[in-house]
Amino acid sequence: MDQKQERKVTVGTVKVGPKAIGLVVKALETGRISGGALVQRFEQKFAAYFGDISATAVSSGTDADTVAYASLFDYGAERGDEIIVPALAFVSVANSAMHVGLKPVFVDCDRDTYNIDPAKIEAAITPRTRAIVAVHNFGRPCDMDAIMDIGRRHDITIIEDCAEAHGAKYKGFLLGTIGAMGTFSFYVAHILTTGEGGMIITDNPQRAQIFRSLRAHGRGCVCRVCILNTESAYCSMRFSTDENGETIDSRFYNERIGFSAKMNEMEAALGIEAMEQIDDIIASRREIMAYFNETFEPYSDWLQLFEEGPDEYISPLSYPMLVKPGAPFTRSEITKFLEKRGIDTRPAFGCIPTQQPAYAWMGYKPGDFPEAEYVGKNGFYIGCHQNIDEEDRVYVVEIFRKFLSKYK
Ligand SMILES: Cc1ncc(COP(=O)(O)O)c(C=O)c1O
Repeated sequence: MDQKQERKVTVGTVKVGPKAIGLVVKALETGRISGGALVQRFEQKFAAYFGDISATAVSSGTDADTVAYASLFDYGAERGDEIIVPALAFVSVANSAMHVGLKPVFVDCDRDTYNIDPAKIEAAITPRTRAIVAVHNFGRPCDMDAIMDIGRRHDITIIEDCAEAHGAKYKGFLLGTIGAMGTFSFYVAHILTTGEGGMIITDNPQRAQIFRSLRAHGRGCVCRVCILNTESAYCSMRFSTDENGETIDSRFYNERIGFSAKMNEMEAALGIEAMEQIDDIIASRREIMAYFNETFEPYSDWLQLFEEGPDEYISPLSYPMLVKPGAPFTRSEITKFLEKRGIDTRPAFGCIPTQQPAYAWMGYKPGDFPEAEYVGKNGFYIGCHQNIDEEDRVYVVEIFRKFLSKYK
């Protein structure tokens, strides 16, 4: 059936409200467009949501991971050391390791949760392992007790990647506050969006200073005057003297190999507005998730649903599904059927080391990560966001039923 599309149910959309538009216009009119007062306001609002932490805004979720990983060098890591990442995740979690000169070491996932399988982590630890990245795929919390325990026993830093999990909780704790640092992406299809953007949180003020240095080329001085574009005041720390008595001008004095990863004022304006809506956004995503779980239940022999475990509070990025072994159809049959009828789908990322050609050079072979590979071949997701209205969700279920009834 090649019909003209009447309805489109996207995996993500953006609605920019009057507050954000007003702030963007003001920034443009005053010419204060690179990181300044709005970025700082967004950081403060974000930090307040999480409690007693520091938040550092960056230009993407990839940069959030890259900066977080690079901060390990201030704590004893060396180039060439290893960082454990899940085999099943968006590819950037491994790319960030490559960007900073760490070797990504992959660990298989638990098929039921899509997240890294803690039982398989210890076999991947070597004397060079410096961190484990707990990626909360699709907004579902990783098993943080098990991962934190491994981190403590082996003296390894835990980084939580919450790009897809804004406001999700594990045992009542907001994700991002359990490990040493939490990273976020505000990409356009994510829960909170700034168009492009990211954030790193930590409860360690010294680490936050390092993030601020790293996001701005590794600059030496990260005081308020130097990092914000808001004041022309003289920086009392700008000029200092080195051990040979030479004057150092901190404006172009770089202590680390950093990145150009700053957020701008227009992006922050969208973030400020989004922070005022975060609870409503999460509540409506959770409501749609519950609706899909209930209505797809009769098909749960064929399709894995997205149901919360006892310690979990999911903040859904999307609604992931897995075509189970024995189902009478394939992923491509169902996703083509949905796409033709206006329901957006995406594959469930894929197994980075064996299904992403970019990582072929590492020499892994098919079968090394059976669970992630199964999800990579058979998993997909559909939209589960605040801009999906009542009619959309009824339509989604109707189209699924049309497809599935062919087999019942
Ligand atoms: C788990 C995860 N980490 C990092 C990123 C990178 O974020 P960005 O696209 O903002 O660079 C993404 C992107 O979708 C992601 O899903």
